[in-house]
Amino acid sequence: MGCNCSNDHFRRSDNNMKKTVKFSLLDSYKLLQQTTGEQYMKVRDSGMPDEQMWADFFDPVGILSTLGLDRGVDDLVEFGCGYGTFTLAAAGFAAGTVYALDIEPEMVSVVEQKCRKAGIDNVRARVRDFVTDGAGLAENSLDAALLFNILHHQNPVGLMREAHRVLKPNGKLAVIHWNYDPTTPRGPAMEIRPRPEQCIDWGKTAGFHFKEQNHYDLPPYHYGLLFNKPFM
Ligand SMILES: C[S@@+](CC[C@H](N)C(=O)[O-])C[C@H]1O[C@@H](n2cnc3c(N)ncnc32)[C@H](O)[C@@H]1O
Repeated sequence: MGCNCSNDHFRRSDNNMKKTVKFSLLDSYKLLQQTTGEQYMKVRDSGMPDEQMWADFFDPVGILSTLGLDRGVDDLVEFGCGYGTFTLAAAGFAAGTVYALDIEPEMVSVVEQKCRKAGIDNVRARVRDFVTDGAGLAENSLDAALLFNILHHQNPVGLMREAHRVLKPNGKLAVIHWNYDPTTPRGPAMEIRPRPEQCIDWGKTAGFHFKEQNHYDLPPYHYGLLFNKPFM
């Protein structure tokens, strides 16, 4: 199973027509837009590989601990939860609720199934286009927000501003992303892959504080950044 980016295609059998048509995810968004008049905006280059391959890139518990999210967090949100690689680990640390948002119903369903299987009951997974509609969470309500492997977004400052909106004063925004290195086995195209310095600038523009000591190396392929929402 994999979540498909716009380059991938579903093969769909049409029994009546006795022929097979190719139907891309982008096509389905266009169809939705035509029928509802609404705009849906999946972050570019944000498709996922096979789940096991993705899981092998990370030590989720280690990464969340390095970023200091293993303590003092009640409620948090992950923007673009994918397979829930980090959602489930975060649920183990969070004293309250973990909101897991994804535009792909398939991803949300995978996260729900995994939680059920693991007996995790503090995750609320929701199908949501946070680019178009925001997080759908109250302002100043959460202790932490995760923007993991998603800041190659067309409007990174807009996304960070939405994280800022939902965080409580002194809330934490954690970012991880693929190293700016063309030899990493996955990751967005280099033309759109952000360097840590760019993410730091965007975070400051969005209203966060950042201390250089909160810039982490997350081997083998990632870096991490921890921002704070100021009290005032
Ligand atoms: C590269 S994956 C990262 C998943 C997860 N954060 C991780 O690091 O394991 C990005 C996820 O964001 C989701 N996504 C992309 N655009 C989105 C949007 N506009 N609203 C909600 N989810 C979106 C994709 O469906 C995908 O599951």
